[in-house]
Amino acid sequence: MTAPAATKAAAPALAAAPLMQLIYASRPFGFSGDMLDDILMTARHNNRRDGLTGALICRADLFLQMLEGPRDKVTATFGRILRDDRHLEVSLVWSGDAPARLFGHWDMLEDPARSWMWSREEVRAGAMLRASAAEAREVFDRVAGEVA
Ligand SMILES: Cc1cc2nc3c(=O)[nH]c(=O)nc-3n(C[C@H](O)[C@H](O)[C@H](O)COP(=O)(O)O)c2cc1C
Repeated sequence: MTAPAATKAAAPALAAAPLMQLIYASRPFGFSGDMLDDILMTARHNNRRDGLTGALICRADLFLQMLEGPRDKVTATFGRILRDDRHLEVSLVWSGDAPARLFGHWDMLEDPARSWMWSREEVRAGAMLRASAAEAREVFDRVAGEVA
């Protein structure tokens, strides 16, 4: 039996677990500062525990979130987020493997939606439903660039 060799391999294998990124958009339901504080407090606590990082772009009419980390943790977290009644119309914009994290130092960065994103009128007219994966990823690239 060569159990010690298997034990030795476990830590590096975990560290190198495939990295996944996921972006979704949704519409806040009952948006308030308290609600956002509550979401962020839970998100940061759980994400630290689960090895997830990411960013939440938030405005009264829009959530756009990137989650990144080990595939099983991202999937489980998105499953909980889908069931959360503090937002509606959750739509997956993109998910896939990633070579590296964009928000490695952030349990969950909070970013107010900027003027260079979609206007309220555009969001009302369904801009998020039409946003391409490339557009959404570009938004997060810019946010990450600003906090780097
Ligand atoms: C817009 C939005 C973003 C969220 N982001 C996260 C997140 O990044 N991580 C997380 O664990 N929960 C997040 N949540 C909260 C989950 O939906 C869920 O309430 C929480 O994970 C449950 O955690 P608990 O079982 O520890 O109470 C988010 C919820 C909303 C509405």
